[in-house]
Amino acid sequence: MKITIISIIGLIIIGLVSYTVAQMGHGMMRGGQMMEGMHDHSPVQYNPDFYSEDMRISRGGQLYDNWWKTTTTTVKPVDNHPLWSQQNVNKRTGYSTYRCKECHGWDYKGKDGAYAKGSHYTGFSGVYEASQKKSVQELEGALKGSTNKEHDFSRYLSKEDISDLALFLKKGLINTDRYLDKKGNPIGGDVNSGAYLFNTNCAHMCHGGPGTMINFGKPDKPEFVGTIANKNPWELIHKVRSGQPGTKMISAIIDKWSDKDILDIAAYTRTLPKDLIEAKKFEGHMMSGEMGHHQSGIDTRGFGPFTK
Ligand code: HEC
Repeated sequence: MKITIISIIGLIIIGLVSYTVAQMGHGMMRGGQMMEGMHDHSPVQYNPDFYSEDMRISRGGQLYDNWWKTTTTTVKPVDNHPLWSQQNVNKRTGYSTYRCKECHGWDYKGKDGAYAKGSHYTGFSGVYEASQKKSVQELEGALKGSTNKEHDFSRYLSKEDISDLALFLKKGLINTDRYLDKKGNPIGGDVNSGAYLFNTNCAHMCHGGPGTMINFGKPDKPEFVGTIANKNPWELIHKVRSGQPGTKMISAIIDKWSDKDILDIAAYTRTLPKDLIEAKKFEGHMMSGEMGHHQSGIDTRGFGPFTK
C-alpha cells in the first residue's frame, strides 16, 4: 500500500517537473523571437526575417551612424580603429573611430564632402561612388576585409548587421548634393510643408514644437533639432531618414517620405532655436519639463520600436 502511494506521489512529482521544464523550453523559444524578447529584458538576437527591406535599410543607416547603439549584443571597442593611425588630423579616440560616419561622413562623401575640413577631417574616401558601382555581396566583402584586412568589421558585427549595412549602402544612400548646397543650405524646400511634417511627426511627445524638448548636448551647451539642422544638415537628413539609434524615433525610409518631404523638413528645422537664447523666445510655447534630458529617448540600445 505504502509503496503504491509513494509511487503515485513520485509520478506526480516527475510529471510536474517535466511540465515545468517543457514550459521553460517553450518560454525560451519564444524569448528568442523579437516581440517576446521584450518581456524578459535580456539581449535579443536580431532576426532580419521579421523585417521588411525598408526596415533593414533603415537599420543599416542606424548601424552606419552608431552600430553599437543600434545593436544589443555587440561589444564596444575601447582602442582606436586599426586604420585610424593612417591619419593624424582627427584627434578623436576610442569607439568614435569605429563609427562608419566618422571616416566616411554623414554625406557619404568622406574627404570630398562636408568632412573635407574641420576636426572631423580624416582624408578617408567616401562610400557613395563605391556603393553605386559594387554589388551588395562586394560591399559585404569590404566590411569583412576583402579589400583591406584592417577594414574587417566581422570581429564586431554579426552577418545580419553586415548585410543590413550593405543593403543600406546599396539602396539607402542618397546623393546629398541634390538636397543641400556646399554650405548645407537646402536646395528648395517649403518651410510651411516642413512645419506641418514636423508638428505631426516629430513634435508631439518627443521633440516638442520648438524642437527643444530633447537636448542632445550638455545642459549649458545644448543641441536641439534646430542646432543640428543648421550646424550639420547632412547629419539631420541622415537621422531623419534612418532614425536615431537606440530610440523609437521614426524613419522616413520606413515611412516612405518623398524627396520633397526630406527637403521641406530640412528647410523648416533650420528655423527652430539653435541655442538657449533662441529657445527662450519660444518659452511661451514650451510645456513644463522641456529642455531637459529626455531619458526615454536616449541612452538605450537596439533598433526600432522593439527597443527597451
Ligand atoms: C577608421 C576609418 C574607417 C571606418 C570607421 C570605416 N571605414 Fe570604410 N573604409 C575606410 C578606408 C580607409 C577605406 C578604403 C580601404 C581600402 O583600401 O579598400 C574604406 C573602404 C570602405 C568601403 C569600400 C569602398 C571601395 O572603394 O571599395 C566601404 C563600402 C566602406 N568602407 C564602408 C564602411 C562602413 C559601412 C563602415 C562602418 C561599419 C566603415 N566603412 C567604417 C575607412 C573606414
